[in-house]
Amino acid sequence: MDYKNKVITVEQALGMVKSGMRIALGDATVEPQAFLENIHTIADRVRDVELTNCLGLRSYPFMEDAKYHDSFILRSLFYSKPTREAEKYLRVSYAPCHLRHTARAILAPGKPDFFITTCTPPDENGNMSIGMSNIYSSDVYKHAKKVIVEINDKMPFTYGDNLINVKDVDYIIPVSFPLPQDVPPAPNEKDRMIAGHIAEYLKDGDCVQIGIGGIPNSVTEFLAEKKDLGIHTELLGDGLARLAMRGVVNGSKKQFMKGKIVTSIVMGTDVVYDFVNKNPDVYVMSCSKCNDPYTVRKNRNQVSINTTLEVDLTGQACSEAIGSRQFSGTGGQADTTIGTQMSKGGRSFLALYSTAKVLNKQTGEREEISKIVPQLKPGATVSLQRNDVMYIVTEYGAVNLMGLSVSERAKKLISIAHPKFRDGLTAQAKELGLIKE
Ligand code: COA
Repeated sequence: MDYKNKVITVEQALGMVKSGMRIALGDATVEPQAFLENIHTIADRVRDVELTNCLGLRSYPFMEDAKYHDSFILRSLFYSKPTREAEKYLRVSYAPCHLRHTARAILAPGKPDFFITTCTPPDENGNMSIGMSNIYSSDVYKHAKKVIVEINDKMPFTYGDNLINVKDVDYIIPVSFPLPQDVPPAPNEKDRMIAGHIAEYLKDGDCVQIGIGGIPNSVTEFLAEKKDLGIHTELLGDGLARLAMRGVVNGSKKQFMKGKIVTSIVMGTDVVYDFVNKNPDVYVMSCSKCNDPYTVRKNRNQVSINTTLEVDLTGQACSEAIGSRQFSGTGGQADTTIGTQMSKGGRSFLALYSTAKVLNKQTGEREEISKIVPQLKPGATVSLQRNDVMYIVTEYGAVNLMGLSVSERAKKLISIAHPKFRDGLTAQAKELGLIKE
């Protein structure tokens, strides 16, 4: 389809940006890279341009120098490493929300002046695929004052509720960027132990959601012997794609979108990008629907596998912050966990290493701390309430907290803490009145 009359250069797009404008950016793997690579060039003539991102893909010049401090504000719905780094130079702030509510969070303060994302080139009907990520794009673009899309000839065409027609966009910037390669870390011994504990609770025919982070991806290796798995997930990475390619996944036992692999985000390497390209078995669904617990619950035997940074002895999980410092985001952790527990036969897992090695600012050395703690660090966010936690898993085992009293929870959690911290945790739990004997 001919779209020449809409084509502009990135300089022309930047020429339309004025001080105080609010710009919503495509999320994660569909971030508009040409626009962001060049936005620093208008810094001298603008002030307080607000950019909203989510799981930002990479760093750009405007995020790397304090001289852009007054020109741009970064409002983030989920921090990634580049977003955390940008805090050194820019006004960066986290907007708390569940991933299913990100479109709402973008639109609540008012219609964005621009929505800028990346799509595939259009097909013969003028439909462009938002491609690899639809956390909020299909919900937001209709409400933005102006829509600009970067058409990337390398973007895989995926099917789902993620099509934007050429007639519904204002401007098009043709680009050619390589696909971002997010190589999952090779599983280590602790990952294997954790994955082994979780795999004991998984059955043939389960429908799985695998979250972000090193541990969940490792679990996929343990599912290779299962049969008839389904996938209803927020994030599709290499691990799940490999399972599907091996024939372990067929979706035949699903009640919702039977036979289809449903996801909102595709993120990994060419393994998963090649897998999803023009694959009729994959459906990329807006997160407002995909992660709605009432959607998640539609499949029986839904299993969610997510990870966390710190768990207190009552089961409250902080999965997004280290003390008051934002590390990532709530994302879809509560969405998927709660939906899973509403599913008939559903099981939710929150996995973490029993310890972390953190920098002691006084000694300058890294020291080992327990990630199972009597109380969360001051300022830490409760990403998953204790009411919503089911299995907690470390390399020392899996415990199901559902229905247990605080006293029982504390004892169970101490049983999967690192052995060298167990006595100390027990003493502190008694002091706090958590363990009653
Ligand atoms: N105290 C202090 N630091 C801690 C810590 C603790 N309790 N736990 C971990 N850390 C440090 C680690 O040492 C590591 O530091 P380093 O980078 O200097 O080595 C860093 O925090 C990251 O920890 P790691 O365990 O490697 O994180 P990850 O990349 O596996 O991601 C989460 C884990 C929890 C941050 C990630 O899964 C997340 O953001 N979850 C929330 C969203 C979610 O689950 N969505 C669900 C669907 S996708």
